[in-house]
Amino acid sequence: MIVQQGLAGQVAVMIDVLRASTVIITALSNGSKWVYPVRTRNQAIQAKEQFISENPLLAGERLGVKIPGFDLGNSPLEFVREKVNNRGIIMTTTNGTAAIVQLRKARRVVVGSFINVSAVVELVKNTEDLLLVCAGTKQKVALEDTACAGAIIDRLLSLGKSPILTDSATIARLVYLHYKDNLLAMMREVSEHGRRLIQLGFEKDIEYAARVDSTTVIPVVETPGYLLKKFKRH
Ligand code: MLT
Repeated sequence: MIVQQGLAGQVAVMIDVLRASTVIITALSNGSKWVYPVRTRNQAIQAKEQFISENPLLAGERLGVKIPGFDLGNSPLEFVREKVNNRGIIMTTTNGTAAIVQLRKARRVVVGSFINVSAVVELVKNTEDLLLVCAGTKQKVALEDTACAGAIIDRLLSLGKSPILTDSATIARLVYLHYKDNLLAMMREVSEHGRRLIQLGFEKDIEYAARVDSTTVIPVVETPGYLLKKFKRH
């Protein structure tokens, strides 16, 4: 669900609850210096050469599973402080990092998920032209990303903001309102990708991703370099 038109000048929030957004937020929360999103495995390996003096980690998945030879997969539970503190991470995932790469023309790219949703709302609440980008799965809508976009919209409305909503935004809010008291069950039992992750043995990732507002860390893309770093208020 990526809208390319009009990206220049917009603030975009990229949402991939299961699991790229949740992983990037966790990596930066646990002391990682930066995350560099790339599209392909080969680009990740090339980027490692580019950043060799910083000895970065390689992370990512295909079909949900760690890429052979990489240091880390795409489970947030792998990105513990002992592994990522003070390290840069080059990351490629099927949908999440690909979506961030596609947002290069945006004025600012922010990474959102349920674990940092209120912090994201606080950052974007006065943005005129906000684009919520749901990464989805395999080029299709993902329920948990839509619900998270809906949570952002619902919180903006609760703050007394009067955004002009597209129909997609209204649908996202309705999805959130429907599931807001049962987010974990929705991700475990209803979401296609959630069910797939359980089959792959990643049920704990879903529990982790459902902990609403467990952090205030917000990854934002910084230029030059297109590195995701922790947003710092100046
Ligand atoms: C993705 O970017 O496609 C997802 O994060 C896939 C996954 O859950 O590993």
